[in-house]
Amino acid sequence: MKKERIKIFDTTLRDGEQSPGASMNVEEKLRVARQLQKLNVDVIEAGFPMASEGDFEAVKRIAETIRTVEIAALARANFRDIDRAWEALKGARNPRIHTFIATSDIHLKYKLRLSRDEVLKKAVEAVKHARSYTENVEFSAEDAVRSDRDFLAEVIEAVIEAGARTVNIPDTVGYSIPTEFGDLIRFLKERVRNIDRATISVHCHNDLGLAVANSIAAIQAGARQVECTINGIGERAGNASLEEIVMILKTRKDLLHLDTRVKTEYLYPTSRLITHITGMVVQPNKAIVGANAFAHEAGIHQDGILKERLTYEIMTPESVGIPRSTLVMGKHSGRHAFREKLKSLGYELSEEDFNRAFERFKQLADKKKEIFDEDIEALVADEILRIPDRYRLLYVHVVSGTNVIPTATVQIEMDGKMVQDTDYGVGPVDAVYRAIARITKTKSKLLKYSVNAITGGTDAQGEVTVRLEEKGHTVIGQGAHMDIIVASAKAYINALNKLEYKKKRFQVSL
Ligand code: KIV
Ligand code: ZN
Repeated sequence: MKKERIKIFDTTLRDGEQSPGASMNVEEKLRVARQLQKLNVDVIEAGFPMASEGDFEAVKRIAETIRTVEIAALARANFRDIDRAWEALKGARNPRIHTFIATSDIHLKYKLRLSRDEVLKKAVEAVKHARSYTENVEFSAEDAVRSDRDFLAEVIEAVIEAGARTVNIPDTVGYSIPTEFGDLIRFLKERVRNIDRATISVHCHNDLGLAVANSIAAIQAGARQVECTINGIGERAGNASLEEIVMILKTRKDLLHLDTRVKTEYLYPTSRLITHITGMVVQPNKAIVGANAFAHEAGIHQDGILKERLTYEIMTPESVGIPRSTLVMGKHSGRHAFREKLKSLGYELSEEDFNRAFERFKQLADKKKEIFDEDIEALVADEILRIPDRYRLLYVHVVSGTNVIPTATVQIEMDGKMVQDTDYGVGPVDAVYRAIARITKTKSKLLKYSVNAITGGTDAQGEVTVRLEEKGHTVIGQGAHMDIIVASAKAYINALNKLEYKKKRFQVSL
């Protein structure tokens, strides 16, 4: 039987980045976009250009760089947003304007303060305006699930008439259940007269843990595009998880007879990249990419697996890109072995980045006898993946012990200039953080601090994660080093860089 293809619309850089704590700067977004291109998704939603200069710049750079994937930008249903989205997108080989307005009475009454007729008119005008720039226009009916079905059908029919090629049906608040959501898609297919002129897309949030199940139900009912994010990151409980949807379609081809063009062996490296850039850790039992997703603990399972993998394994770790190699590296490992190791972990770095990573690897190998995959991942994340905006740690020195007041001297490169200061605290980390706050003149609140040994042994690298809050913005920062005080300083500075970026954003609300 010929398989139909489902379009994978990745919104990690837009909806995913709206996750509490997650924030990526322009360079980091570009790195993620390159990885999504390798993963071979169909559409990358690169951002919401009206939200900030940074978003605009990220969409523009991604549009100019990524050539084999469609690039979408979000715009509310007004001409200014659409003009701005187009300005950012116009350098793309295959640009898509994604415009949206809410259709539920709850949103109309309390948020938009518009009548149904006004919303219908705005939706049509927005699509027509977007069509004056490109044929590739997507329309989303925000909060579609809680909208009056007849009104939703009327809006969808009108926007298709106005030129929308894709019509997206979001479960914005993650309220639906699979039978109901599948039924909504079937209803639209029957009711909307011109529905065959557009692709039906779905976009599910995970508030009740049903985002993936609802997306699959919609696909079974006829949706042909799914909007999703790596690791399922996104607003509140997140979006539908890309890796789960893709692997469901692949593993259950026998039942669903559908396919995607995603190169599944890049799923795990992409998941790790997002974790390292955003600091948002994946739960160990997360399907497909969690640390335990392929670990067989029970003796009876191990016995079965040893006899025949099919007994307890419905897909292989290799098919999602989980490396099997346990090759341990050390100070005698050369450039070639290091490059191969990086490759097996899914990293293909530029020559310049490779040289920096190799230098850091050699420094680490001088101090630590065995270097494990986790050490290398932390090193690449720390040195290469997290790209600082404003602040860079140059030097940290602490004095602490039983009979001294813990004191820290910190040197930071700030806007290209070297700045230094000293402060004291109740402990060495407190002293370092106070010195950094003095230098950067920031007043953020430390909500969470945790330190984790990356591997076993007393010579393990420490990975510090911090959560900072300032003026309602929350960010997560991470840093890794053999010395946990240095790792702490790095994590704090990483978070401050993210706060800088985030503070400039979302002066406009969705
Ligand atoms: O959740 C939602 O409704 C959205 C739309 C903007 C597509 O993210
Ligand atoms: Zn959303």
